[in-house]
Amino acid sequence: MTLSTLVPPHVAWQTGALKNGPVIRKTTDIAALAGVFADTKSWQRCEPGQAVYDVDVLQTETCEGALFTGVTHVHPGRVGDEFFMTRGHFHARREQGEVYFGLRGCGLLLLQNERGEARVEIVTAGSVHIIPGYTAHRLINTGGEILSALAVWPTVAGHDYATLSDGFSVRIKTDGTGWRAEASHD
Ligand code: F6R
Ligand code: ZN
Repeated sequence: MTLSTLVPPHVAWQTGALKNGPVIRKTTDIAALAGVFADTKSWQRCEPGQAVYDVDVLQTETCEGALFTGVTHVHPGRVGDEFFMTRGHFHARREQGEVYFGLRGCGLLLLQNERGEARVEIVTAGSVHIIPGYTAHRLINTGGEILSALAVWPTVAGHDYATLSDGFSVRIKTDGTGWRAEASHD
């Protein structure tokens, strides 16, 4: 009998570094996040090439039932009072869920349903976040170190950024020592 033995991809739990697999990295810088942060004047003063977050995704075949695995690294930083964060999205296929696992750093996972009701979960090393379908999600780095989280999601899920082009209903800002939530559209 011949049994093939493959070396699988590997994630370093302390850093989120992916190896042993074809990984594609996408970096999102400040300039790409026009309109995402509330304080436009502070956003204009930022260095345009400043990286806000990197996403490493293992290249995977895409079909119904297949899963992507990726790590998001959100850098520490703020635009005005607002912490660095991902753009955030619903899945294009709304019923598709996702799981995030905190790896390092500290932050928040902002979740929002289709009625605009938001909630947050605290992200730390080892935290597990089950994102149901029909739920938009955004990672926010409220700490002084890189926030890294592993995610697994269906390859058919897709991203819908347009629905939230006016932003989430809540913004997370510094209160000096920690964070506070503020309604966006008051
Ligand atoms: C995939 C997923 C993550 C995000 C990543 C970047 O469904 O949720 O891999 O894509 O954290 O965030 P966005 O896509 O909102 O820029
Ligand atoms: Zn997602």
